[in-house]
Amino acid sequence: MKPIKKAVFPVAGLGTRFLPAAKAIPKEMLPIVDKPLIQFAAEEAVAAGIDVLIFIVGRNKGSIPDHFDKAFELETKLAGDNKHDILNIVRNVLPSHVDCVYIRQAEAIGLGHAVLCAQPVIGDEPFAVLLPDDFIDAPDNCCLRQMIDIYNHNHCSILGIEQVARETVNRYGIIDSVPVSNRLSKINAIVEKPPVDQAPSNLAVVGRYILTPRIFDLLKQTKHGAGNEIQLTDGIAKLLKEEIVLGHQFTGKRFDCGNKLGYLQATVEMALQHPELKQDFGMYLQDLIGKGI
Ligand code: UTP
Repeated sequence: MKPIKKAVFPVAGLGTRFLPAAKAIPKEMLPIVDKPLIQFAAEEAVAAGIDVLIFIVGRNKGSIPDHFDKAFELETKLAGDNKHDILNIVRNVLPSHVDCVYIRQAEAIGLGHAVLCAQPVIGDEPFAVLLPDDFIDAPDNCCLRQMIDIYNHNHCSILGIEQVARETVNRYGIIDSVPVSNRLSKINAIVEKPPVDQAPSNLAVVGRYILTPRIFDLLKQTKHGAGNEIQLTDGIAKLLKEEIVLGHQFTGKRFDCGNKLGYLQATVEMALQHPELKQDFGMYLQDLIGKGI
C-alpha cells in the first residue's frame, strides 16, 4: 500500500454561521489567538508526515494562498528592523519541503464535491482530509498522526470519531459500528445528520479522514443529499459496502470552530496555554469570574 503523503483541506464553504466576519475573509483564516485555523490544520498534517497540501478554495479565499506564500515586503521590513523572532515566525509558516496546491471549487455544492475536486492531484493514492474548522488540541498536534499509524497497520479508510451529546447527533455524520479494540471500531453504516430519535449511536465523524482513492468513483455517483449538497458521508456510505472502513476515537480535545461557541471555547483554552498570555489572561478570567459573570 502507498504511504499517505497528500492531504486535502476543503475550505470552499460559505461559512454562513460566521457572517459577517466570513463575508470577505474565509472562516479558516480566523485566528485562535494569533494563528489562523488553517495553519493549525496544516501543521497537524505536516507533523503526520504529509508533504503535499491541497486546498480546495472558493471565491474570497485569496488570503489562504497569501498566508502560505512568501511575504516579500513584510519580510524585508522585519529584517531591516532586526525583528528576527517575528521574521522567523512569518518565514516558517510551513517547512520548505512542503508543497501547496490550490484547486477552485466553482460552486459550494458540498463537502463530497469539494473532496472530489482533489482527484486530479491525488490520483490513485490513499489520502487524508482535514477540516480546519474542527480544531483538535492534542499533544504534539498528533491527531492525524494517530490515524496514519492505524492506516499503516490496517491499509483501509479511517474516520476520526468521537462521542457527542445525544441531542446534538443531528449536526453530524453518525456511525453504526462494532468495537475492534479500545479506540477502534469497524463501521457498518453511516448517516448524515440523522434526527435524534433515529440515530444509530452517538458516535460522530469529525473533520479528520483517511480515504482510499475508491472514494472518488463513488462520489461521482453520489447525488445531492442532506441540505441539497453532495455529502462526503453519502460517498463513505457507499465505500463501506465495498471496503473495510474503521473509526478511530482519537486522543485530543476537539472544538467545533465552525460555530461561534466552539470558536470562543478554543480561543479561551488556547489563550490559557499561550506562553505570552496564559498568566495575564488567566488572572483576567479569574477576576471576571470573581465578579460573578
Ligand atoms: P460546513 O458544513 O462547516 O459549511 O462545511 P460551511 O459553508 O463552511 O459553513 P456554514 O455551515 O455555512 O457556516 C464543512 C467543511 O467543508 C467545506 C467547508 O469549507 C468546511 O471546511 N466545504 C463545504 C467545502 O469546501 N465546499 C462545500 O461546498 C461545502
